[in-house]
Formats: sequence, structure tokens, C-alpha cells
Amino acid sequence: MTEKQREFDFTDKDFDRIRILAHKRAGIFLSPRKRDMVYSRIARRLRSLGLTRFEEYLHYLEQEEHEAQDFINALTTNLTAFFREAHHFDLLSEQLQQLAEVGLKRPIQIWSSACSTGEEAYSLAMTAVEAFGSWTPPVKILATDVDTQVLRHAQQGIYEADRISKLEKERIKTFFVKGKGSRLGKVKVREQLAQLVQFNTLNLLAPQWPLKGPYDAIFCRNVMIYFDKPTQYQVLQRFHPLLTEQGLLYAGHSESFQHAADLFKLKGKTVFAPVRAGL
Ligand SMILES: C[S@@+](CC[C@H](N)C(=O)[O-])C[C@H]1O[C@@H](n2cnc3c(N)ncnc32)[C@H](O)[C@@H]1O
Repeated sequence: MTEKQREFDFTDKDFDRIRILAHKRAGIFLSPRKRDMVYSRIARRLRSLGLTRFEEYLHYLEQEEHEAQDFINALTTNLTAFFREAHHFDLLSEQLQQLAEVGLKRPIQIWSSACSTGEEAYSLAMTAVEAFGSWTPPVKILATDVDTQVLRHAQQGIYEADRISKLEKERIKTFFVKGKGSRLGKVKVREQLAQLVQFNTLNLLAPQWPLKGPYDAIFCRNVMIYFDKPTQYQVLQRFHPLLTEQGLLYAGHSESFQHAADLFKLKGKTVFAPVRAGL
């Protein structure tokens, strides 16, 4: 789109300021190729605030602290799916069965660290219920994201029915309730499943993470692709001590951490084990 056709003034300087802020506040690296995407996502904020220039919006963002969250919510990419990269859930199921055999004295802890609208976290919960054959498996699932809007959706656990159309029939029957009346065409995760997941806001770049390990599994999938390598390394450095000896880091299909070979070694298809001193 040429500058002339645009609804709002959007200069190189505006784009650069947005890039700096997105990186500083959420670690999100926006390449010059993302200019149109940034325009269309932030233009929605201008429209809803009744502003006419990006410069005006950036000034508003600086003045109004509460806008920071909407700014981040607007820039995140939240694409996700139930049982996305299904092989991860098969491996997790094996991991859970092994941990059950060891007879841990504490609950198994799993962290979905960029959970988006919740499909990943509920898939973890379904895997745990199936692995233990119980609605109360000894598993705690923490699901976090920087985007408060997607978290609200995740907490509701309500989805368009076509989001689960590819799941096995048995899973659909066991874990979802079909909507009626005004919720026709939607499904809701069953209460017993929802109870296994705790949702919280967490920015992977925040100086403190309000959580306590140890984690047997950390799912950090399809978010590192939005970070540059130094930011990825910083996050990996913080994941490392949170994982147990046998703990695993599950990454996204296009994420590789060769630049952090001192911290993590590839264990399977986009699954990483922490490197321990002396091993
Ligand atoms: C593409 S989704 C991935 C969802 C899910 N993990 C999956 O693989 O299907 C990326 C998610 O990362 C979140 N995100 C981006 N920057 C983040 C940050 N600094 N801290 C936590 N989450 C972040 C976004 O809000 C978004 O929901």
C-alpha cells in the first residue's frame, strides 16, 4: 500500500519508534518487512481512540501507562491450535508415564509459557488426563502469556466448533461440551479439564517471573521466532535452572537453539534437554 492510500499518517520515524518499543517491552523484533502488518494492527488502536496520526498515538502511548498493554496485545501474533505439533504430546505422554513410574513425591509441573488462547494448555491437560486415566492426574499446569486479551479467551475456554473438528471423536466427547442457544456452533472445555490449568499474565522479558519450579516440561513454542538471538538466549538462560534433571523444553517447529548449545541440547524433534555441568 502506498503512503498516499493510507488512512493515517505513518512515517519511518513512527515505525522505528514502534519497533524500539515492541522490542523493549515484549522482546518482539519487528523487521522492516513487518511495516504493513504494524500499520494495520496499530491503526486499529488509532481508530478506537479516535486519533488521526501515528505520531499522536505514540505520544498518547508515552503519556497513558494503561495503553502499554493494548499496544502489546495489538502487536502479538496469536496463531495456535489444539494438539499443534502432535508429536510433542506423544512425547509428553511418555514423559508423564515415566515420571509416574518413578513415584514422585510432588506434582508433575508443566509450564505453557506463551499459551495464547489456551489450546496448547488444554492439550497438555488432555494429555495428562489420558496418560493417568484420571480427571485428577498429579499434574499442575501453568499457562502464561504477555497478551491479556488472549488470556481472557483462554480462561473462558470457549472456541468455535471447527477448532476441534480434526480431533478424535472420543477426545471431543470426553473433553468438550457443545454450546446451545446463543452458543450454538461453539464448544467449551469441560470444567474438570479447565481446573487443571492455571492462567496468568507473564512477560518472558519481565525482570521477575512470579513462579517457582522445578518444571518437568516447559512448552515455549512459536514465540522465540519473534525474538532476536540475544533475547532468546536470555530467556533460555532463565528456563535452564527451572527445569528438573530430566526436564524437557518443547520448542516450535522452526525454532533451533544452536546459539545456546551451552544451555540446551537437541533431544528429539524440536525438544531440548538442559545441558548440565560435567555431562
Ligand atoms: C504464535 S503464538 C504461540 C502459541 C502456542 N505456544 C503455540 O505454539 O501454538 C505466540 C504467543 O506468544 C506470546 N508472546 C509474545 N511475546 C511474549 C512475551 N514477551 N512474553 C510472553 N508471551 C509472549 C503472544 O502473545 C502469543 O500469544
